[in-house]
Amino acid sequence: MAKTCVKAQVIEQNTIAGDVFALIVAAPEIAAIARPGQFVHLRLADTLDPLLRRPFSIADCNAEQGTLTVIYRVVGRGTVLMTKLQAGDIIDCMGPLGKGFDLTAQRPLLIGGGMGLAPLVMLAKAFCSRPATILMGGRNEQELFWPEIYAGVCQNIHITTDDGSIGHRGFTVDLLPELLKQDKFDRIYACGPHAMLKGVAETAAYYGVPCQVSLEEYMACGVGACLSCTCAGASGKRHKVCTDGPVFWAEEVAW
Ligand code: FES
Repeated sequence: MAKTCVKAQVIEQNTIAGDVFALIVAAPEIAAIARPGQFVHLRLADTLDPLLRRPFSIADCNAEQGTLTVIYRVVGRGTVLMTKLQAGDIIDCMGPLGKGFDLTAQRPLLIGGGMGLAPLVMLAKAFCSRPATILMGGRNEQELFWPEIYAGVCQNIHITTDDGSIGHRGFTVDLLPELLKQDKFDRIYACGPHAMLKGVAETAAYYGVPCQVSLEEYMACGVGACLSCTCAGASGKRHKVCTDGPVFWAEEVAW
């Protein structure tokens, strides 16, 4: 697995909505080879404090400009410190890490819940001439700032919220059977909460559509050394999400 560790300069940081931020850093060596679904491991300061090392999915990548974008929600001390980063600051950036998505779909359906929508931005862009459809869900309208981000890169956008404040009221997976009956999707790509992924995997299997899922697990090292990220595999073997994934075929996972 080709990966590198670089000192990355912050280009800019913007608030997307409430406690969600987009951080753009210059890391040309990583941007040149990153694939949708891979992640980077960031360290904010010269310290051994594990709270200051974090994995972030790559939300966007510009190989020509040599930049990477991560979209993150503030969830604790590490991400609070991250919000203080300004243009010109330097952070450690290791990547690209993990295995990315299969890109052979001709008729892709992307499904994302909450912050699981972040890695699917780069995936949607990768399909360019094969317009993707996206089904997205969140708790409420405030959480669903994603349609603007996906507007230029997905042909069709379907929205669900738990409270019905925007889009269909209910769970994301509720809309899936109808979409699969309406259109001949040849791949499903999903990222989000475990319960959503399980529902997507079961529905995809029922309709016979190959499905990949991107799993979110706590990761301490990001490179296969600490075993903090393992999940149960369908074969009985445990997978390391950081190196065997984070993207898996749905049938590889024990749900
Ligand atoms: Fe350490 Fe996966 S994060 S083994």
